[in-house]
Amino acid sequence: MGTPQVSRRSVLEGTGVALAAGALGYVGFVALGPVPGSEGDNDDGDSSGKGSGGDGEDSHFLAAVDDIPDGGGMVLSDDKLVLTRDGDSVRCFSAVCTHQGCLVAGVQDGEIRCPCHGSAFDAATGAVVRGPASDPLEPEDIEVTDQGEVLRA
Ligand code: FES
Repeated sequence: MGTPQVSRRSVLEGTGVALAAGALGYVGFVALGPVPGSEGDNDDGDSSGKGSGGDGEDSHFLAAVDDIPDGGGMVLSDDKLVLTRDGDSVRCFSAVCTHQGCLVAGVQDGEIRCPCHGSAFDAATGAVVRGPASDPLEPEDIEVTDQGEVLRA
């Protein structure tokens, strides 16, 4: 009575349209397929750190070693990284404080310091020197070139 009536013919016609659209879509997919290289580029970028070398987005210039104060460090706000230096030794950590996520503000007296609640981390290891943070800063891979450039590895 109040139930909408759908004729068998309209159901079949609808099915035919759906099948045709599905077939066209499949043919289109097979014919065009994934754009060559589009997926491969992403895969290469992720997995071929060896192959792509310097042209990958992951590997980019962070700083010159000479610009990092010896015995101190520098915070790279855009990259959310902190570089520390002790002579020829350069280290890199996440600049995101493990307490509540503030960016650390700088490096002084061998400590990476967070301005928000006073946590401090060892500039050489990232270990917690003073809380309230309880977890160390995450170390990040870098590469120091023969030309004295610090690159994100
Ligand atoms: S967010 Fe760094 S000490 Fe709280």
